Amino acid sequence: MEAFNLRICALAACLLLASQASGYTMEEMCAQWSGTGYVGNPSNCRAWGYCQGQKLLGWGTCPNDYVFNSQKGSCGYANSTVCATSAVDTCKAAASPMYVADPQNCTQYCYCNGKGDTEYGNCGVGGVYSAGTGKCVWGPTCPQDNICRFMLNGIYVGDPANCGSYIACNNGVGTAGKCGTDLTYNLANGYCQTTNNCDGDNSNSGSDGEFTINEPDTTICAKNWEAAEFPKVGTVTQTYKYVSDDTTCYGYYYCATKEGTGYWNECPTGTQFNQAAGKCVSPASFSCAYDRCGNVNSQFMTVLNSNCQKYKICASSVVQSCPNNLYYDEVYNICTTDEPTYAICKAT
Ligand SMILES: *[C@@H]1O[C@H](CO)[C@@H](O)[C@H](O)[C@H]1NC(C)=O
Ligand SMILES: *[C@@H]1O[C@H](CO)[C@@H](O)[C@H](O)[C@H]1NC(C)=O
Repeated sequence: MEAFNLRICALAACLLLASQASGYTMEEMCAQWSGTGYVGNPSNCRAWGYCQGQKLLGWGTCPNDYVFNSQKGSCGYANSTVCATSAVDTCKAAASPMYVADPQNCTQYCYCNGKGDTEYGNCGVGGVYSAGTGKCVWGPTCPQDNICRFMLNGIYVGDPANCGSYIACNNGVGTAGKCGTDLTYNLANGYCQTTNNCDGDNSNSGSDGEFTINEPDTTICAKNWEAAEFPKVGTVTQTYKYVSDDTTCYGYYYCATKEGTGYWNECPTGTQFNQAAGKCVSPASFSCAYDRCGNVNSQFMTVLNSNCQKYKICASSVVQSCPNNLYYDEVYNICTTDEPTYAICKAT
């Protein structure tokens, strides 16, 4: 350690520094946290997300000239708040000198001279910069590369690599912890407990258990046959049909004939069943009247007949509107001024 050229942050602000892509999405951060509050957006240092009940329920951006401080969970002046995604941006705005980590390269660190310029320092062979201590330390892993980097100071979250264990977040740095003997950490409530919750599946994808693959139905083919198209394989029109299960957006029955028994199956994850087309397609490309949150790994889905101005929060089924009459773009998951052209937006 002493062999390194140790650079110690002169400013208390250095404790809040962070760097290096943590590799966790906001959805993944929320999934590990039992609490309610903000997380930083790893792709844009002005943007944030809002977690509740282990789901990402909202997102937004700080005003111009502000940067989101993930550890405080609030927007701070750009001239005194580290932009966790760009050292150059931090230095451009910094009103006083400070050391910051380089999010692109952990083996070096940056010095903001307080006049808008960025200077680079090298941690030497085998060294990496630790934003938490403001020093070069031995590698090989980058200290900033942890789930706490974009999360609040002073919280406990689940260890994504080790279900049943937790991580304590302090100023963007995670310290791993283990519950006592025979206890496991429960992500949902943040407590160590005797029951083991580690084999649960919290996703909203796949079958919801209403149907099982190949489940037969003797009346569905006759009922929905006329509404369905004969599918084509290449250019050859087939003699069987796929029909809606009349319950989910992603399940369909295979019908060899109109009089025959239907056998249930489900679309690949991310797609939903369009009976008129006889195939699994992008959910935005047609208007499914059932729960559009099924079989998609999306936090939000457009509400049918809302002109793409309303969306549903899949985790809670709460319907919301974008601010300022903006349109909700389901494919890109943003509120936007441009009205999307997807079929789901035109449905009446
Ligand atoms: C930082 O920016 C804010 C808002 O623009 C300003 O009020 C404040 O004086 C600035 N601080 C410094 C140290 O320049
Ligand atoms: C990272 O920084 C070090 C030290 O400044 C430099 O030698 C190295 O080439 C950089 N690596 C990359 C991938 O840019």
